[in-house]
Amino acid sequence: MSEFRFDKRLGIRTGGLREWPDDIYHYNRCEPTPYIVLEHLFKHYKLNRTDKLVDFGSGKGRVAFYIHNRFKIPVVGIEAQDDVIDEALRNKKRYRMRAKHIHAPIHFEYALAENYEIKADENIFYFFNPFSADVFKEILVNIVDSLEKNRREVHIILYYPMPKYKEIMRDHSSFEIYNKLVMPNARDSKEKIIIYRSKDVS
Ligand SMILES: C[S@@+](CC[C@H](N)C(=O)[O-])C[C@H]1O[C@@H](n2cnc3c(N)ncnc32)[C@H](O)[C@@H]1O
Repeated sequence: MSEFRFDKRLGIRTGGLREWPDDIYHYNRCEPTPYIVLEHLFKHYKLNRTDKLVDFGSGKGRVAFYIHNRFKIPVVGIEAQDDVIDEALRNKKRYRMRAKHIHAPIHFEYALAENYEIKADENIFYFFNPFSADVFKEILVNIVDSLEKNRREVHIILYYPMPKYKEIMRDHSSFEIYNKLVMPNARDSKEKIIIYRSKDVS
């Protein structure tokens, strides 16, 4: 199915790229995860009813809507470009007309991802190359702090992982690789998904 048809089925518009108005070194542009990647990911990896997902740098909301629709779980999207989050909120209005039957909340927050306070029950964290490795490190500190306060298994999903993100994860004592998925017909070596899980430290 084409990207457009997937969007249409969900009643949303998430295509296209959106650059930051000024060149902000640490923050990357808005570009959606291709639906084909989401289909591939969730063919091999399932979410549970009790999971709660946060998409750090959620763009127009594609990942959030897709997961909410497919798994009926609560999702949160954090986005720092104001015109982009406005589009996510417009999408939410249209999406909700079709998805009234799904009771799980879907929430977007206009914030810097590094300032977002991770909630005790959030356990799946998604990143599609949203910002620099330095910002990613700050969020990892927040995730580990949250784990220390509330012990639980959390997963970090990286799509199209940059070498520096992988280095940070490799050197981190709290996480291990849970699964790796290479995209069929990948055009370059970054076209993959790596899922990390927190180590059991009990
Ligand atoms: C590559 S897009 C990914 C969009 C969405 N997660 C997806 O996969 O479809 C990255 C998004 O992160 C946002 N972003 C970049 N830096 C951010 C930050 N510090 N806090 C929140 N959002 C940020 C960008 O504006 C952009 O919309």
